[in-house]
Amino acid sequence: MDIIILPSADDAVALTVRIIEEQVRRRPESVLGLATGATMEDVYRSLVRAHLEDGLDFSQVTTFNLDEYVGLTHEDPRSYAAYMRRNLFDAAGIDESRGRLPDGAAADLTAECRAFEEAIRAAGGIDLQLLGIGRSGHIGFNEPMASPASRTRRVVLAPETLKQNGSYFGGAEHMPRLALTMGIGTIMESRRCLLLATGKEKSAVLAEAVEGPVRAMIPASALQAHPACTVICDEPAAAGLRQRAYYDWLFQHDPAWARFRLTTAPPGSGCREG
Ligand code: PGA
Repeated sequence: MDIIILPSADDAVALTVRIIEEQVRRRPESVLGLATGATMEDVYRSLVRAHLEDGLDFSQVTTFNLDEYVGLTHEDPRSYAAYMRRNLFDAAGIDESRGRLPDGAAADLTAECRAFEEAIRAAGGIDLQLLGIGRSGHIGFNEPMASPASRTRRVVLAPETLKQNGSYFGGAEHMPRLALTMGIGTIMESRRCLLLATGKEKSAVLAEAVEGPVRAMIPASALQAHPACTVICDEPAAAGLRQRAYYDWLFQHDPAWARFRLTTAPPGSGCREG
């Protein structure tokens, strides 16, 4: 796991976008795993800008989103399908046939989850999975106690998540209680994971996920065992990390990150895109 701590949320978003952009330019037919939430809105805004201004071409990309609420059709403005159309798909030219989300309004949710997993396999697996982290410690909607071996399935949302996302529904009490989510096992099969965390409200859970033991109560901690996971965060989100000098050391000395470092910054002082 690489942990990259950048001075601001803008810097963290910029690096995330740059990695996604490089992936798509290197392999135009990439399979991307996408996430939703407030943190990702800036990422998608920048990707849309890269599409419109720098010709970043998404026409051959296939995407799979992590999750969707049960009971909402994809036409519902509160659905994650609508979020994706609004924030990325429409402006970036990602056709509905290539931008897949689980259908939380399907008559047979078990069959829908199975079909979603099958579609990922048929696409050749996910090259790059974008992730946020919830205050409950979730990735996707894998809430505390989710099995590390879990696949796409129906889950119960944690109270912490209802609190976190309630404002999109006019209050936690109006939120769906159930969702479909890619499993932790599904996420772990992606070739690369990129977790973006910004803001101080993520600092405690990020520290547990990254530095605590791997345990089902903190689903994001499973990523410690992923062979290629990069965590990108800003200073406020990094505030709970005890080993940050070590992460900075690794970042400064790893040749793989050389072109992403700010050459003028003294070692350990954080960085900007180079
Ligand atoms: P947020 O959500 O970006 O809205 O904080 C992240 C998540 O819950 O995974």
